[in-house]
Amino acid sequence: MDTLPMELQVNKPTLFKTDKTIEKFNRNSDLAQLVEELEVGNPILISTYFSDGLLLLEEIQHHLKSKLPNKTFQEQRKFRSEYRRLSNLVVIQVVNHKLVPKKSPTIGWLEKLYPENNDFLLPFPQIQGLNSAWQWFLNGISIPVLRNKLHPYYGTYFPTRFEHLILFDNWLKRYEGPKKTSIDVGVGSGVLSLQLVKHGFQKVFATDTNPNAIIGMKEFMGDTKLSRKIELDFGHLFGKWEKPSELIVFNPPWLPASHELDRKDEAIYYGDKLFPEFFEEAKKRLLPDGKLVIIFSNLAQITQSADNNPIADEIANGGRFKLDKYLTKKVAAASDKTKRDQHWRDKEEVELWVLCHA
Ligand SMILES: C[S@@+](CC[C@H](N)C(=O)[O-])C[C@H]1O[C@@H](n2cnc3c(N)ncnc32)[C@H](O)[C@@H]1O
Repeated sequence: MDTLPMELQVNKPTLFKTDKTIEKFNRNSDLAQLVEELEVGNPILISTYFSDGLLLLEEIQHHLKSKLPNKTFQEQRKFRSEYRRLSNLVVIQVVNHKLVPKKSPTIGWLEKLYPENNDFLLPFPQIQGLNSAWQWFLNGISIPVLRNKLHPYYGTYFPTRFEHLILFDNWLKRYEGPKKTSIDVGVGSGVLSLQLVKHGFQKVFATDTNPNAIIGMKEFMGDTKLSRKIELDFGHLFGKWEKPSELIVFNPPWLPASHELDRKDEAIYYGDKLFPEFFEEAKKRLLPDGKLVIIFSNLAQITQSADNNPIADEIANGGRFKLDKYLTKKVAAASDKTKRDQHWRDKEEVELWVLCHA
């Protein structure tokens, strides 16, 4: 495998730094008063028990619920941003890669992501995020189409539902073309690349714009046989992979980014340029009889976040590709509790678009 560029910086929570003296939480503190401190921007240190932090976060929720109306979309945004501001002032100390308070969870990311820092502070909500990400990484996720579990790296997208992966697997089973090379755009935790290898592709050239995806895959593969089959590049769309291939696969973000909302997550939301650029570049990198596979969903349409489908648009207006196959699969209904508020979930379907040169 190619060596990865030195400048590949992992995304991780920023250390908490302040010039202020930090008040310590103690069990005799008046919770409401502590929230007042947070409101004027004074941080509070959780130092005795981990659960003190949970108590304080609950108190913040309670306080904001009584203070802010939380009905309209705008009000919910305000609520969330206030919660984010206050809760991120609740901090916890990390010494020798361990959380200082008693009964704290063990989080391996503290050592992996901050090898050089021995004594620092992090906001409590970030610790919660690191903790759940560590559990996913450690225990792994069973994926119906893969023999081995997936171990998603911190800050990397991973699938939580699998219908789209089953669609792709069924299509791969029937695929009869050559299997020398393929390209996986936006590798994430690697699931599509692993499916390609499972179905006999000799090489997968993969990319991602998220450094954690690349770092995570590199660590996961080590120098096993897999690392010679899946090659990685940290880059936009096709990155440095120029050579045409017989199969290109892309599971892009499924929702359009909207300008008024802070939707920065590149695994979930796509900007105006992503699809036009993708199709333009894909045209150059698909062999004459190659297949371009895009995994998508009707999520944007049924939640009214978009009234067009970027792939259907490309086929109708792009003049570059034509449709070879279109497969869909209903997504299993959510549990009763969530279904009540989300009627559209009943109509959710994943889509597999297979395109070839027009
Ligand atoms: C929906 S996730 C899919 C991940 C993985 N392929 C899977 O199926 O589970 C989309 C991935 O594409 C990556 N991505 C988004 N925009 C990209 C771009 N312009 N170039 C390369 N990768 C991109 C994201 O970081 C994310 O890992």
